[in-house]
Formats: sequence, structure tokens, C-alpha cells
Amino acid sequence: MKKIKIAVQKSGRLNEDSLKLLKDCGISIDNGKDQLKAIASNFPLEVLYLRNGDIPQYLRDGVVDIAIIGENVLIEKGTDIGIAEKLGFSKCRVSIAIPKENTYNSIEDLDGMRIATSYPNTVLNYFKKYNVTPDIHLINGSVEIAPNIGLADAICDIVSSGSTLFKNNLKEVEVMLKSEAVLAVSPKISSENQKNLDKLQFRIQAVLRARK
Ligand code: PRP
Ligand code: MG
Repeated sequence: MKKIKIAVQKSGRLNEDSLKLLKDCGISIDNGKDQLKAIASNFPLEVLYLRNGDIPQYLRDGVVDIAIIGENVLIEKGTDIGIAEKLGFSKCRVSIAIPKENTYNSIEDLDGMRIATSYPNTVLNYFKKYNVTPDIHLINGSVEIAPNIGLADAICDIVSSGSTLFKNNLKEVEVMLKSEAVLAVSPKISSENQKNLDKLQFRIQAVLRARK
């Protein structure tokens, strides 16, 4: 029987909750430590542990059939990829923040300002609506440090508890979008794996209902 390939975040906030969801669906995965690939023993499923930012491209190419991924990553890199189910965990916002002591009246204050972010497309799309043009500085991690070291006037990043902003003396001034983990589907999924997806989704829906 053909196995459906699912991408799960290799490490980070989504990893644990994603594996918990599969477990709650009654799927046993033998997780050899440090393995990038694992196979379920009681469901036609193969898990690939991948980096968040790479997952949209793997879905697009059909290298994986489905993925558990933050909606924010799809909005940034995969607006062409379909969502089968919202999963109700890893809720966060994607926001703009500035140094706590700076005044802020409206988004126009950010015109021409240097914004450090890993979400350039999201920022540009949001600012376009207001006719404001920021100067984007692409950074892949520890974005919140940028204003403190004089690299940027503002940042755009994920906010969950808010503790990273707090620790770096930043305040949230614009919430650009809200996000949660979703089940995303490759446009190239085969009809056989679509059947596996239907079975998996049926179980996921039951688990999500029970969690409410
Ligand atoms: C993420 C994100 C924020 C932080 C938000 O970073 O980039 O910095 O979490 O969470 P909080 O509001 O609960 O503090 P992460 O620690 O995952 O590492 P990274 O930025 O290096 O990817
Ligand atoms: Mg961070």
C-alpha cells in the first residue's frame, strides 16, 4: 500500500504538538533519535522531519503530500498551497514591534524605516495597503535583537507569549495576522494518497472535537 508522506517541523515549537496530534490519532511512529525519516507501524504514513521554511517548496513539488505547518509560513511562502484543516494549536500573531520608548501613532510612522524580519512578503503586502514603504532587512533568526544593535528601527516577527519582545524592550504596534498550525496539502497529491489523507483527516477531526 502506498504511504502518504507528511512533513513535520524538525525542531521548534510545532514539532512536539504535531507528533502529539498524530499520536492522539492512534498512529504509532517509531522515532529513532535524530532520524529525519520515520514510518508509522499502524497507518500507511511516512514522516519527514524538515525545516519550516523548506516545507512550502516540498509541498509544491510533491516531495511530500501533506504537512503540519504554521499558517504564517504558508502566507509568507505558499499562498498557492491549500489548507485541509486548521489544527487549533501553535497559535501566534505576526506583528510589528518597535523600541518601547518610541512613540507610535500610525503605520505611516514606519514609512522608510528599516524593518528587520524573516517575513518580507508578509510585511510588504501589509504595508502596500497603506501606501507605506518600509526598508526591509532580511534576518533568519533572533530578529528581536536588531533594534538594540542599531540594525533596524522596527521588527516584524511571530509573537506568542510576548516574552521575547518584553526581554528586548520592544512593544507590539501592529498585528498583521493571526496564525495557527494547519494541515497543508500538496497540489500534486495522488488519488491513492488522497484516500489516505481522507482517513487521516477523519481521525484528526475526531481528535480536535474531543479536545474542545
Ligand atoms: C520565535 C519567534 C519569536 C518568538 C516569539 O522565535 O521568532 O522570536 O518565538 O515567542 P514569544 O512571544 O513566546 O516569546 P524562536 O525562539 O522560535 O527562535 P528563532 O527566532 O531563532 O527562530
Ligand atoms: Mg525568534
